[in-house]
Amino acid sequence: MNNIIETILNHRSIRQYEDRPLTEEQINTIVTCAQAASTSSYIQAYSIIGITDKETKRQLAQLCGNQPYVETNGHLFVFCADLHRHHVIGQMEGKDLSTSIESTEKFMVTVIDATLAAQNAALAAESMGLGICYIGGLRNQLQAVTELLHIPTHVMPLFAMTVGYPLHESTQKPRLPLHHVYHQEKYNQDTKSYQQQLQEYNEITASYYQERTQGERTDTWTGQMANMLSKPTRMNMKEFVEKQGLNKK
Ligand SMILES: Cc1cc2nc3c(=O)[nH]c(=O)nc-3n(C[C@H](O)[C@H](O)[C@H](O)COP(=O)(O)O)c2cc1C
Repeated sequence: MNNIIETILNHRSIRQYEDRPLTEEQINTIVTCAQAASTSSYIQAYSIIGITDKETKRQLAQLCGNQPYVETNGHLFVFCADLHRHHVIGQMEGKDLSTSIESTEKFMVTVIDATLAAQNAALAAESMGLGICYIGGLRNQLQAVTELLHIPTHVMPLFAMTVGYPLHESTQKPRLPLHHVYHQEKYNQDTKSYQQQLQEYNEITASYYQERTQGERTDTWTGQMANMLSKPTRMNMKEFVEKQGLNKK
C-alpha cells in the first residue's frame, strides 16, 4: 500500500484539536493542493475563505449549531461554490453570461468543483499529520454567514472545514461494504438483495457503536438514516440558492 492510499484509508473526522495554529506554509500547501483538483472545463468555480479572526470563528461556531471545534482548531476554511468570478469575466469580455451562470447545470458544476477541491485539501492536511472535519452546519443560517463573510451574489457557502493537530486518536467509522456501493455493469435494482445488504451493514454498525460506547449505544445505520431523513432540515435551501443568483434556470 502506498502512502496516499494509507492516508485515504486512515481518515476519521477530528473534532478536538491542540491550541496550535497552522503555519502560513501549511495553509498555502493545503490550498494549492485544493486547486490541483480536476475542474470542469477549467472553470475553477470556487473560493476558499480562511478564517483566523477569533471573533469571526466564535460567531461561525454559533451559526453552525454551536459546534465548539469551529472555534477551536488550527485553521478554519470555508468552501464556496463561486460563479461571481465568471460574472466579472462577462463584464470584462463584454458578454452576457447570466443564462449560463444562473443555470442548474453550472450550479452543479460549481458545487462539484468546490467539493473536489475540498477533498484534495482534506487529504493534503491529513497527509501532513493534521486532522479535519467538514462542517455542513455552515448551511444552518446561510443569510447570517453570507453577511458575516461579505459573500456576493453568485457565490454559495457550501461547508466549512476545521483543520488542526488532533488532540486524541479517534476511532474509524465502518463504511458500507464495497459490493453495496460498487455495481458492476448495471445498477442493481433488486430491492430484496438491497434489504439483505442493509441488514448485513446494520450488524456491522451496531457492533461498532456497542464497542465504542461499551454497550451503551444500540443503534443501526438504517435506524439512524430513517431518523435523520424523517426530520427534513434546511428546507429554505432552494430559495437561498436562487436568491444568490444560482440554479434559477
Ligand atoms: C459535507 C459534510 C458536512 C459535514 N458536516 C458536519 C458537521 O457539521 N459537524 C460534524 O461534526 N461533522 C460533520 N461532517 C462529518 C461527518 O459526520 C463524518 O464524515 C461522518 O460521520 C463519517 O465519519 P468519519 O468522517 O469520521 O469517517 C460532515 C461531513 C461532510 C462530508
